[in-house]
Amino acid sequence: MTDNRGLRTDSGKTEITASVESVQSAIRHPSSAFRPPAFPLIALIVSGGHTDLILIKNHGSIEWLGGTRDDAAGESLDKIGRLLGLPYPGGPHIEQASQRGDASRFTFPSPLIDSHDFDFSFSGLKTAVFRETQTMQPLSYSTICDLSASVQKAIIDVLVKKTLTAAKQFGAKSLLLGGGVAANNKLREQFELEARSQKLGAKIFVPPKNLCTDNAAMIAATAFFNYQTVSWQKLDANPSLYFN
Ligand SMILES: Nc1ncnc2c1ncn2[C@@H]1O[C@H](COP(=O)(O)OP(=O)(O)OP(=O)(O)O)[C@@H](O)[C@H]1O
Ligand SMILES: [Mg+2]
Repeated sequence: MTDNRGLRTDSGKTEITASVESVQSAIRHPSSAFRPPAFPLIALIVSGGHTDLILIKNHGSIEWLGGTRDDAAGESLDKIGRLLGLPYPGGPHIEQASQRGDASRFTFPSPLIDSHDFDFSFSGLKTAVFRETQTMQPLSYSTICDLSASVQKAIIDVLVKKTLTAAKQFGAKSLLLGGGVAANNKLREQFELEARSQKLGAKIFVPPKNLCTDNAAMIAATAFFNYQTVSWQKLDANPSLYFN
């Protein structure tokens, strides 16, 4: 099902609205306010609640290209972190453990990496890690590091591949990363490396790490670009406001 903005609304729920807000916020993030990205741009939003690829042709012209069919990338890192006995949230701890790990020790699939769409799926990865760890309890520190590195690789490979494919297909001049998972060094590096090796013309915009999860900064930036003077006499308080 698509709505009047051309966005897929799987169940007609407000999920997509939250996603679009994330994207609008990310594009208007304070870090990009001084060097505005050129359109068209491709945005990858990777957080605890979202994994979305979005094409933005101009301010207000937003097309959702695809997203996760199940768990978000950050959500899967958090669930796998718990399986590995790492503290919550798993993402930053998996990144830290990965630095001492060997990503080639375990081969986890990057789900949907060869599908000809812009969808993602991460829930199977959690099941694969669960199965792998069953026979290795208790997990040694080096095994936790190797599992972390292998999982991180599986997730990053598919995120980078599909985002760069979208950037090429739609002739993106800018590529924008946002959401908590965008704080991941390996993800940031791999985007830069792959974009360079594939001679992608698009310029990459990534928020400073401390702002990747900062909803307040994003909402403030969105408000800045949407600012309109409204007379207070026209404001109407509605105590039973609801969203459908
Ligand atoms: N360095 C990192 N590497 C990988 N993942 C990370 C890193 N830092 C944070 N994360 C992940 O980012 C997620 C949190 O991001 P964020 O706060 O943007 O999401 P959220 O608020 O849960 O979701 P949303 O805003 O989409 O509703 C967590 O899943 C966390 O594990
Ligand atoms: Mg958030």
